[in-house]
Amino acid sequence: MSKLRVAVIGSGQVARTSHINHYKSLPDVEVSAVCDVNQNAAKMAADEFQIPSWYADAGTMLEEIRPDAVSICVPNKFHCDMTCLCLEHGCHVLCEKPPAITEEEAEKMRDTARRCGKILTFGFHFRHAEKIAFLKRKIEAGEMGTLYAGDVTWLRRRGIPGWGNFTNLEMQGGGPLIDIGAHMLDLAAWLLDYPEVSYICASSSDLIGKQGGTGFMGSWDGARFGVEDGLFGFIQFSNGGSLHVRTSFAVNIADKEERNVRLYGSKRGISVFPLGIYGDEDGQSVNTVYPFDETKDWHYDCIRNFVESCMGRADILVTPDQAVYVQKLITGLYRSAGTGRPVIYGNGNL
Ligand SMILES: NC(=O)c1ccc[n+]([C@@H]2O[C@H](COP(=O)([O-])OP(=O)(O)OC[C@H]3O[C@@H](n4cnc5c(N)ncnc54)[C@H](O)[C@@H]3O)[C@@H](O)[C@H]2O)c1
Repeated sequence: MSKLRVAVIGSGQVARTSHINHYKSLPDVEVSAVCDVNQNAAKMAADEFQIPSWYADAGTMLEEIRPDAVSICVPNKFHCDMTCLCLEHGCHVLCEKPPAITEEEAEKMRDTARRCGKILTFGFHFRHAEKIAFLKRKIEAGEMGTLYAGDVTWLRRRGIPGWGNFTNLEMQGGGPLIDIGAHMLDLAAWLLDYPEVSYICASSSDLIGKQGGTGFMGSWDGARFGVEDGLFGFIQFSNGGSLHVRTSFAVNIADKEERNVRLYGSKRGISVFPLGIYGDEDGQSVNTVYPFDETKDWHYDCIRNFVESCMGRADILVTPDQAVYVQKLITGLYRSAGTGRPVIYGNGNL
């Protein structure tokens, strides 16, 4: 089979560190073009990575290059339009996370992929960790019993990015929930197998963000801080289970950062970072911590899964339906925090 011809739209941080370089490392892939509205950025990426063509307009690139597959690495605001444009041009698409800003956009992306008969997946790269597949098998084998509750956590003490669009509500659609919490929600949803939701409630704050300051991800301007600095929520499932959600760019905690997904089962409990399984046998605590490589770059596995799927040699791991579910959780948490009221679900719409 001839090489998969790939193009990358957006040539910023994630395109350079996690897409173009990994595509270039795969023998079956040719990176045919890069596109960025900032044409200097596009040209620089083309020069640096020896990509034969660069463009400032995605439509022109798709018409002239006709790639087989495209990575979308632009701000969240443009995920839906760019993804649908590429799908309509007959391309398979790997869109960076979060899927989009609204659930309607995520649904449109899913429906367009379905109509066009193309692969659509998303950059939830933690899902590609070997330990997640290992855990999923253990859960499916019943080793945890019934998983009835959990915590989804990504808290930074002072980790407001001082660059890019991370504090720009219009470009991003939100702060830590949509940026980093989304990864942990994706893992929890996958491990819990997408339970139906009965209600969601949450609160959020921007009190630290609005002050401005400096942290381990640079300095930020309080006057231009437009997103939440923390969101704290609760998701009640129709099966009686529940999930606490805690996510922040800046919160007064002891450590620099806390990141985990914990799930509590009737037989055993799980901690994902690092991977541990905890139980009790004959009155004794039994703790098993598994030595998975926590430093591996799972972006590579995400790119490889996309390429293998495009070439018909693998199934896509992160599906559009799963992405829509995660987007609906994000939207519900923001809606509740914005109104101060629970969001009630019914009729199986989440
Ligand atoms: N999977 C992950 O862990 C991960 C990590 C970082 C970023 N991301 C996601 O990747 C996306 C990009 O993030 P980034 O950090 O690379 O941002 P960035 O600001 O570094 O780069 C974005 C690039 O997109 C370009 N751009 C903007 N609008 C465009 C358009 N309409 N057409 C073409 N180019 C356009 C900008 O000029 C810029 O060069 C975001 O959605 C972010 O959430 C995911």
